[in-house]
Amino acid sequence: MNSNTHREKFGSSFGVLATAVGSAVGLGNVWRFPYIAGENGGGAFLIIYIAFVLLLGIPVMLSEFVIGRKSQKNIFGAFRTLAPGKPWFTIGIMGVVAAFLILSFYSVVAGWTIEYLYLAASNSLTGKTPQALQDIFSASSADSWYSIISLIVFMLATALIVKTGIGKGIEKYSKLLMPMLLAIIILLAIRSLTLEGASEGIRFLFKPDFSKVTTGVVLQALGQSFFSLSLGMGVMATFGSYISKKESLGRTAVLVSLSDTFIAILAGVAIFPAVFAFGIAPTEGTKLVFITLPNIFNQMLGGYFFSVIFFILLLIAALTSSISLLEVVVAYFSEELHTSRPKATWIASGAISALGLACIKSTKIFSLFDSFSSNILLPLGGLCIVLFVGWYMKKQLVKQELEENGKPALYFRAFYIIIRYVAPFAILFVFLNQLGIIA
Ligand code: PHE
Repeated sequence: MNSNTHREKFGSSFGVLATAVGSAVGLGNVWRFPYIAGENGGGAFLIIYIAFVLLLGIPVMLSEFVIGRKSQKNIFGAFRTLAPGKPWFTIGIMGVVAAFLILSFYSVVAGWTIEYLYLAASNSLTGKTPQALQDIFSASSADSWYSIISLIVFMLATALIVKTGIGKGIEKYSKLLMPMLLAIIILLAIRSLTLEGASEGIRFLFKPDFSKVTTGVVLQALGQSFFSLSLGMGVMATFGSYISKKESLGRTAVLVSLSDTFIAILAGVAIFPAVFAFGIAPTEGTKLVFITLPNIFNQMLGGYFFSVIFFILLLIAALTSSISLLEVVVAYFSEELHTSRPKATWIASGAISALGLACIKSTKIFSLFDSFSSNILLPLGGLCIVLFVGWYMKKQLVKQELEENGKPALYFRAFYIIIRYVAPFAILFVFLNQLGIIA
């Protein structure tokens, strides 16, 4: 992976898109976005979230692509190549820590989707009342052997794919599966919208009530935008190193960010009308999706079929994201600590499973890992990344990397101003504001 000459490249523009979208789209869109939005006021949260995606998400993603494609290295090698002898590589270490923490609770939730796939396939969700579905979730997410086994099965699947290298595999599957997931979510959204009482959910999601906005809400929106776009920890930089010089990085960053946001909003449209129609509280937190969606399936023609397909696709969406997370850790272990790739994979996944077990045992640890990585580590990583590209790297190099067909990119000026002046201050402001240092 660290050889420049034979570095693997994505096969096509669509392959690049599908893979980056495959990493971005996952539990963050379907599970995390609706519950965080639900806990943080709905519409007002959505507006702040979208503003962060446009103002910070796209420029940070573009900066990561620049770092990766310029250096042709993994995230550590990248900083060491572009800034030899300088401490910038610490950003990479932070990325590995973030990957560890995120993957440990992520695989627990992915484990729940395995349990739900089983429940859906064995017809155990049909005909249940909303209350019964709540009870089923409590049982599935409890500290039980089922949860532990599902976690291990999921980590094993992730490890087996990463162990053999990800290039062609992920690209091929992402191209096929992401469009399928999109189609299913659209179907669910349509069914949810046609439920009686749906309009209240739509109002909740789209009508901003700014009285709900506190500094905590803003930080959550920032964290969620980085989490959902897989930013701030080197995933997109690593992908950038596999993107051929012919591709337009700007176009890719915009398309990936918009598709990811579109899918999150669609998930919200599928979930909130149902939340209100079935009398569930939007603030139910981590269990929101797992109790509302089975309710919708019960109201759908062909609900059995769609529920099975949905959980299969959600599982795959989780897998394409977890692969990208594990890849960051494995690339570090194998390239920097000189372990073989399979050995690095097994050690990393063993350690992550152990942390995952801690998340199953304690919901406190679960939410600590979740909020610390998303709300602190990722935005901090993003801050360092824009500082690096905006202030450390030579302007000419950045400009060259963003050239399209030998011509300077039209958006270069705007991008450069944002990463130098706007993004760093915006992120700092949210942090300091949250700490109560500035109001
Ligand atoms: N973006 C993924 C999701 O929304 C999660 C993720 C976060 C993946 C950070 C890679 C890095 O599910």
